Amino acid sequence: MENNRKVTLTYNDGKDNLEMPVLKGTLGPDVVDIRAFSKTGMFTFDPGFLATASCESQITFIDGDLGQLYYRGYPIEQLAAKSDYLEVCYLLLNGELPTAEERKVFERGIMRHNMLHDQLMSLFKGFRRDAHPMAVMVGVVGALSAFYHDSLDINNPEHRKISAHRLIAKLPNIAAQAYRYNKGLPFSYPKNGLTYAENFLHMMFSTPCEEYKVNKTLALALDRIFTLHADHEQNASTSTVRLAGSSGANPFACIAAGIACLWGPSHGGANEAVLKMLDEIGSVENVPAFMEGVKNKTHKLMGFGHRVYKNMDPRAAIMKETCDEVLNELGLHNDPKFKLAMALEKIALEDPYFIERKLYPNVDFYSGIVLSAIGIPVSMFTPIFALARTVGWISHWAEMIADPAMKIGRPRQLYTGAQRRDYIPQEQR
Ligand code: CMC
Repeated sequence: MENNRKVTLTYNDGKDNLEMPVLKGTLGPDVVDIRAFSKTGMFTFDPGFLATASCESQITFIDGDLGQLYYRGYPIEQLAAKSDYLEVCYLLLNGELPTAEERKVFERGIMRHNMLHDQLMSLFKGFRRDAHPMAVMVGVVGALSAFYHDSLDINNPEHRKISAHRLIAKLPNIAAQAYRYNKGLPFSYPKNGLTYAENFLHMMFSTPCEEYKVNKTLALALDRIFTLHADHEQNASTSTVRLAGSSGANPFACIAAGIACLWGPSHGGANEAVLKMLDEIGSVENVPAFMEGVKNKTHKLMGFGHRVYKNMDPRAAIMKETCDEVLNELGLHNDPKFKLAMALEKIALEDPYFIERKLYPNVDFYSGIVLSAIGIPVSMFTPIFALARTVGWISHWAEMIADPAMKIGRPRQLYTGAQRRDYIPQEQR
């Protein structure tokens, strides 16, 4: 990892120079190892981690300039075309693609854990009916820690594996029940024999009164959405899970922290925000006025821009194809929302404001349109992102816990508050 390159820090006040090693990964930019810097009595300052690699990882690689995304070395385009979500889960967790036998055992392991403890169902009923499903998910997933705590030793690899399987298995069920509770529908149960995506659609939309027939094309599209969202290296929610987990906290509680972070509109909440934005714009004639507002910074063009991608988000390119397939299958190609999205995309890609800032559509620009066409309500877009990202979160958590060099995450700060001062009794203020 270390090569011969060094970075030398020179001070302009006569202090000794500091040499810092440069580390080389298997792909991507070199990294300056600044750990020795902590001994100088100063800190580095990098709000938002614009220039900071927070950890070493072997799971996912992104080249933001070239628009490339690899899970364990495999390009996302190949996985989206040839693999499926459960195989991708195995890959992310274990580092290699499974053999047929490994796949069978893994799938059985996931199926075995997809029910929810009956006591947990009472918890849903404590929420207001109109609670956002993401709020319910933060609460219910956090509550899983109460069910799996005393029996869980995070230093035992087998326990970590079972926790990962439980999470991957139960998240679609929790998301579906959050939706059903909100709609006043009775809780549903998973049906083994269906694929992971089919099972999710079944848990969302089946009723006790009639058989729910899963549309295979739509289930495949949903499976692809899961694959595209499965991991994205050290994004805000994954870093949240790592930071929470670095104290040795219960992994179910850590995943609840990740869900909370994902909910924000700058992160996973963007897919919901895109649909709301399309509704607000209304029709193609209103696009120029909306774009003026974007350039005046009155509002953002949701589903555009990314901290890492300064080129087309490769997930967005695949999602655009999926969007086409789904709209064709459903005969919705003249769907006004899709037409509006295409008009926005065209204008944005030709506009100097977006070109200069390297703002391209990200995955959320299209995923909302696909989900909406599948019949998923807007409030469930981010829960679907959360259930798909759970495997990424837990893979990163497990990688971190297994690392003997793991330390509790503890950033420092540039303090700009008040100087030391003495307490003034209330009557003298
Ligand atoms: N619409 C209009 N202007 C934008 C947008 C946008 N969507 N995104 C960035 N900009 C402008 C921003 O105002 C700034 O302009 P200036 O240089 O004049 O100040 C410049 O582009 C750089 O933006 P930034 O805010 O410094 O970039 P960032 O890396 O801090 O933020 C982002 C990245 C994703 C939070 C931001 O692009 C954004 O808010 N996009 C909309 C929300 C969205 O679609 N999020 C989903 C991300 S992909 C899914 C996921 O990973 O969660």
